[in-house]
Amino acid sequence: MTGPLVVLVGPMGVGKSTVGELLAGRLGTGYRDTDADVVATAGKPIAEIFYDEGEDHFRALERAAVRAAVAEHTGVLSLGGGAVLDESTRALLAGHPVVYLSMDVDEAVKRVGLNTARPLLAVNPRRQWRELMEARRHLYTEVARTVVATDERTPEEVAQAVLDALELPDGAPSGRENTP
Ligand code: S3P
Repeated sequence: MTGPLVVLVGPMGVGKSTVGELLAGRLGTGYRDTDADVVATAGKPIAEIFYDEGEDHFRALERAAVRAAVAEHTGVLSLGGGAVLDESTRALLAGHPVVYLSMDVDEAVKRVGLNTARPLLAVNPRRQWRELMEARRHLYTEVARTVVATDERTPEEVAQAVLDALELPDGAPSGRENTP
């Protein structure tokens, strides 16, 4: 199956972008992030899309961004934390090397805390994060080929665990180089 070499899913703040960029470097390939694609398409930050047009509009842009990225990108791809809510996105991911980066609630609050760039956690991060995870944990698990826990691990350690879990050759250009 062609498509991304690695697809990272998981909740906001788990480190998908940091780990994804490290992985792309280790694999000698490109990095792409559907949040960045949505921001580029909309021409404004995610918090403003939520505020101006609402979450449904954001999810439609996100669905299209995931489709385009899975079709076009052959490097490392990170999906926004809520992308797996969409059933057709979950179906699209079947068969791809999807890794669920997980973390527990204490780690989540430490990492995302009061970050207002993430509108879904703006009011009560701990409670909202728990609710989000209750609704989503099974969806991350459903789409993932493997789960990598990030608690108390550095981004480098997480990247290594992803390479090990997917049995990807470390540092060896894969011949699937990609310009982001
Ligand atoms: C969201 C996660 C965010 C972003 C948006 C909604 C979510 O992406 O897509 O704020 O619903 O969990 P990150 O997971 O990259 O922060």
